[in-house]
Amino acid sequence: MKDSFDRTIDYVRIAVTDRCNLRCFYCMPANGIPYEPKAHLLSYEEITRLLRVLGELGFRKVRFTGGEPFLRKDFMKLLENTSALPAFESIHITSNGTLLQKHLPRLKELGVTKINLSIDSLDKDRFHEITRRDDFVKVMDTFHLLIANGFQLKLNAVIMKGINTQDIIPLAELAKNHPVAVRFIEEMPFNGGYKENIEMYSARDIYSDLQAHYGTLLKNPGKHGDTATVYQIPGYQGTVGVIAAFSRTFCNTCNRLRISPKGEIKSCLYDDGVFNIRDYMRSGVTDLELSEKFREIIRLKPKDGFEAEKMRKTPKAAMQSMSSIGG
Ligand code: 5AD
Ligand code: SF4
Repeated sequence: MKDSFDRTIDYVRIAVTDRCNLRCFYCMPANGIPYEPKAHLLSYEEITRLLRVLGELGFRKVRFTGGEPFLRKDFMKLLENTSALPAFESIHITSNGTLLQKHLPRLKELGVTKINLSIDSLDKDRFHEITRRDDFVKVMDTFHLLIANGFQLKLNAVIMKGINTQDIIPLAELAKNHPVAVRFIEEMPFNGGYKENIEMYSARDIYSDLQAHYGTLLKNPGKHGDTATVYQIPGYQGTVGVIAAFSRTFCNTCNRLRISPKGEIKSCLYDDGVFNIRDYMRSGVTDLELSEKFREIIRLKPKDGFEAEKMRKTPKAAMQSMSSIGG
């Protein structure tokens, strides 16, 4: 379905939990964020219903995120339900990679093979500093296991000035011998509100580092809705990409809606929730009413992340944590 800027909206990102077993410092304060009680979260039946309705509206891609989605006990049940919905051509998951190993055979059976892992450093100590947990070895094991099992892997690294810019080239080198899309992401101010001033290491800075090391890189043709600018390094199996998440240079091809763990719909990452679909569903509405509501929300989708930010009800300083938005 089209929005008022003629963009086809066919991709939904659902954060299934705000809980996380890591504490990445760009995402939340050291002592975490106040978690929502379970009864406030969308149930997996409610999520399945939303997906069925969205499928009927033309949605074709779904990504489950968190927090850490594998922390949710019924997550595999949700994946089973979703894989039975004919509308969704592909099911994607974004995970921190600490809990998914034991689910790997079932994921394969369900055909859920598109996984994004968050890895911000290949240095064990720096990984610990950034995530405030000592899970580097486990996450790298998961990385190799997923590749060995033919999963289509993307790797997300948030690049922060003075913290992990020296990781850009080592991370990019993973693409040499592995068929992985390594993506570098600009840091955004979604960290639970505890740090306001972010010294940006911009997409341009990241590209300059890549260029200094590899020379001018060939840009791959983008796909509809891509947020990453993707480059091929000659002879490499994988690719490298840069996501201008803070500069917001890709809004003109945006194709997505987001749903938070408690059912807040975000028609843009930078708005602070435009409608609570959980309360609406729990009030007993029909599928048709639900569908009409989605149409209205999509029609009102803002032009870009700057417009959405202006429409926020809460001031910038109270920015949410990415773990309740889902990235
Ligand atoms: N800025 C940019 N990216 C972030 N992520 C989490 N918090 C932030 C932030 N403040 C990323 C994670 C994950 C993706 C879902 O979002 O690294 O890969
Ligand atoms: Fe957890 Fe992801 Fe947030 Fe890190 S960025 S604390 S892995 S939700």
